[in-house]
Amino acid sequence: MGYQAHFRVWRGTDDGELRDYTVEVNEGEVVLDIIHRLQATQAPDMAVRWNCKAGKCGSCSAEINGRPRLMCMTRMSTFTEDETITVTPMRTFPLIKDLVTDVSFNYVKAREIPAFTPPAGLEPGEYRMQQVDVQRSQEFRKCIECFLCQDTCHVIRDHEDNKEAFSGPRFLMRVAELEMHPLDEARNRPEEARGEHGLGMCNITKCCTEVCPEHIHITDNALIPLKERVADRRYDPLRRLFKKKD
Ligand code: SF4
Ligand code: SF4
Ligand code: FES
Repeated sequence: MGYQAHFRVWRGTDDGELRDYTVEVNEGEVVLDIIHRLQATQAPDMAVRWNCKAGKCGSCSAEINGRPRLMCMTRMSTFTEDETITVTPMRTFPLIKDLVTDVSFNYVKAREIPAFTPPAGLEPGEYRMQQVDVQRSQEFRKCIECFLCQDTCHVIRDHEDNKEAFSGPRFLMRVAELEMHPLDEARNRPEEARGEHGLGMCNITKCCTEVCPEHIHITDNALIPLKERVADRRYDPLRRLFKKKD
């Protein structure tokens, strides 16, 4: 059975406003369906980014009732029929229009991480790894680059001037993934995470983990191990005495 829901959606640019809509909802629908219905019936110029409608492309990120979420994976059945549902763009990134933000900050940070660096002379067909090492990075490779973790992290969400020094959870996780690769031996990834990507600014609040639609344990499995490796290499007296890299 359908019903009429009350939506408040951000319209316009930085000096825009929340606009009220009453819109039909049918059984089995998600928030993205409702936004599409608004576009089709009441707001044809509403900007919204989406692609797969299956939780896999990472395009439809927004804030629903203040919480960073994928619109295509947020079921209308999780709200009561008389609840007002507020949809706003991700707050951490510059607003382009309506629900669309400029996420190029993330592409800049991605480019700052040096690529996988295997030992010199080792050809791709010669890579040999233990299954346990393969499994460890598989969790991180589930990332769909929705940037919801980046959006929610208070280090950059509340402090624009930290963006220069802090790469955010998604990209610190990428550094951790490379650091845990047994054949990536040519770099001191923990030191790069500390010095160039601002790992020390993360105070392991786990907010990034809570919003990840892929349920990646970003904090426990990537950020904390990376911090431990920094501590091991910088402060272990035996390592310092013998100046060991690993
Ligand atoms: S755990 Fe670290 S990276 Fe994740 S939200 Fe908290 S401060 Fe940000
Ligand atoms: S780690 Fe999770 S929340 Fe962050 S970009 Fe990847 S899928 Fe999105
Ligand atoms: S439209 Fe692809 S993740 Fe939502």
